This record gives sequence, C-alpha cells and structure tokens, in this order.
Amino acid sequence: MLSKVTYKQLPTHNGSRTKPCHRKTKGVCVIFLVIFVLGVGLHRAGFTHSFLGTRKCASYSLSTTGGLPTHYTLPSGDKIPSVALGLWKAGKNQVGNAVQAAVESGYQHLDGAWIYGNEAEVGAALKRTNIPREDIWLTSKLWNSFHDPEDVESALDASLSRLGTDYLDLYLIHWPLALNRDGSVYNQALTDDPYPTWKKLEELVDKGKIRNIGVSNFNIRRIQNLTANPLKYPPAVNQVEINFWFPQAELLAWSKEYGLLLEAYSPLGGDGRVGETLSVPVVKEIAAELGITPAQVINSWHVQRGTVVLPKSVTPCRVEENLHITKLPDELFEKLETAAISHEPKRGVNPSKSWGIDFDIFD
Ligand code: A2P
Repeated sequence: MLSKVTYKQLPTHNGSRTKPCHRKTKGVCVIFLVIFVLGVGLHRAGFTHSFLGTRKCASYSLSTTGGLPTHYTLPSGDKIPSVALGLWKAGKNQVGNAVQAAVESGYQHLDGAWIYGNEAEVGAALKRTNIPREDIWLTSKLWNSFHDPEDVESALDASLSRLGTDYLDLYLIHWPLALNRDGSVYNQALTDDPYPTWKKLEELVDKGKIRNIGVSNFNIRRIQNLTANPLKYPPAVNQVEINFWFPQAELLAWSKEYGLLLEAYSPLGGDGRVGETLSVPVVKEIAAELGITPAQVINSWHVQRGTVVLPKSVTPCRVEENLHITKLPDELFEKLETAAISHEPKRGVNPSKSWGIDFDIFD
C-alpha cells in the first residue's frame, strides 16, 4: 500500500577591431546609436514581434497558480511545486536560456533526465542565475541501462556532477525496462522485478543524495508489482504522458485512491500535437472567456486534475506563459474534462519498437 500524498568589446571578425567614430561621422554615429537603442528597447518590449506578427506568446493577465495548488506534499513531507519546466527535447544551446528565463520568471521546479543529454547546460545555467540550491526542485531520471544495482550510484553521480549539485529532490526510474549495461535488450529479471534497483535507490535516499524517489511510465500492474515488495520508501510520484488526447483518467483515479502523485509529461500534447491541442474549440472558448491563452487553459486543467504539469519550452515568453495558471470555474473545467475523455485515447509516446523489445512497454 502506498502512503498518502497530501504535492565585450564589440565582437570583431577576422581579428579586425570596430572602428571608433571620427569627428565627421560623429553625428551619423549618434543617430545610429539612438536608432539601435530604440530598436533594442522596442524589441524587448515585444513591439517588433507584435508588429511583424511573429510574437509567439499571446497576452494574458494572470498571476502564478491563482486558486490552484502551488505545491503538493509528498510522503517525505517535501513540497513539490505543481508547475515545472520540462527539459525533454530542450536542445543544446537553447536549454540554458530556457532555464534562465524560467528561474527569472519564478519557476522553482526543473524536470530533467540523464538521457536528455542537457544536464551540464542546465547546471551551468543554474550557476549563472545564482539561485540558492534549496529554492529549486531538481528532478532527474535513472536511464534504462543503469538499473543494475551496481550501476545506480555512478549514474546518479554523473547527473549530480553535471547539474552541479550534491543532491536531487527527486530521482525516477525513467522506464520500467532494464537494458543490459551495453544498452542491448534486455535484462529480463530486473525488468520483471525492479526491487533490487529500488532498494539501491532507497540506500541513496538514506545517504542523502536523493530526497524522494519515484517511477516514470509505469502502469498500474507495474506499480503493484513494485509495491508488492517490502519497500522502505514507496514511490513518491509516477511521471507519465497525460494530455488532452491521452488523459489517463483511469490511472489518475487509481493513483489518487492509492495516494500516488502523477506528473504529466507532454501536457500540451507533445511535439506534433501542440497546435492541434491549442486549437480544440472548447480550449479556445475557455481561453477567450477567461482572457487567458489556450496553453494556460491546458496547464491549469492539469493542475486542477491534481497532477504536476511539466510543459516544455525553449522560448522564453512561452516559458513564462506556462507558469501562470488559474483555477477554471467548475463548469468550464468539467466541459474540458468531458471533451478530453470523450474521444478515443491516443498515446503520443511509445518507444517500445525503437528499443527492439518484443512487448509493449505499457502492457
Ligand atoms: P518551444 O519549445 O519551441 O517553445 P509538450 O510540453 O506538450 O511536450 O509540448 C512541447 C512543445 O510545445 C514544444 O514544441 C514547445 O515549443 C511548444 N510550446 C510550449 N509552450 C507553448 C505555448 N505556451 N504555446 C505554444 N506552444 C508551446
């Protein structure tokens, strides 16, 4: 049984220096300087984007998490922020800026993983922001080829060192699949029973390197399979795909009953389906009625359902937009929930085939 969740010098080219202004050209230089300063100011204020029609974020007036929980309390007593910046597919040379924009706009929660390949850039960005370590919730995930108990601590240490920290707030088993150490398919025993891996994670909690442990992409059967063992620490969260197209109502109801917090990845629909999600008529209607953006409607719906929401963006104004959520009036929430659960559920993420396994990881 799971326990209850209550959670310069100007740049030069070819070594040439930028020429200083000569007297004759001084006036021209001043005019250019004024135009440049004005241009930067207007650009920063979003004027150029709006004028050119390329501004990616619509306007809205919301404060963070109006009326919705800002945090959930985990079995450990730790409070996990309800909105995180998702770092999956946040590419190199983009993710650092996104992290900086997130922290500066008030995010307290970053959701990453070793396999995303961007932990060093995330760590460097965090260092630049000077945010105190205790003010940010850091999640990472144990990759499939490190499930052998002998490999777990070194995998964690690699993430810790790249992130520039000595502990994680949350560490998840990324998938219920143990690949062999060389990445080949697959370690049947550790896949069928992840308890040895879990036991090692529990040891690392006791060692102070991780504050909370959980799972990701586990279905009910696999959670029950894990929790049938004499666990010292039950899973604190299960991170799964949840969005308008794949609302996971059954898993959500079961998880609430058993006190297991769900975290929603691909909450806007995931790559390829975001535009479709944000154009759903009921989503647009609610956005218009409340004066918020369609993405904010969706992010709010997730938290109102009782999950952590992990929207991914590398676009600073979207990063900020996604942090601001609000409680939807009950009838609008129900309208959206009904629309989400009324169509055939369609999963967006299933890497089973790409791993070459002869079963569906979600069965
Ligand atoms: P980008 O990173 O270029 O800003 P999900 O979180 O469901 O996986 O969706 C991620 C995708 O949604 C990314 O392509 C991201 O683009 C885009 N996205 C994130 N936030 C918003 C938003 N507020 N409005 C529109 N698109 C968004």
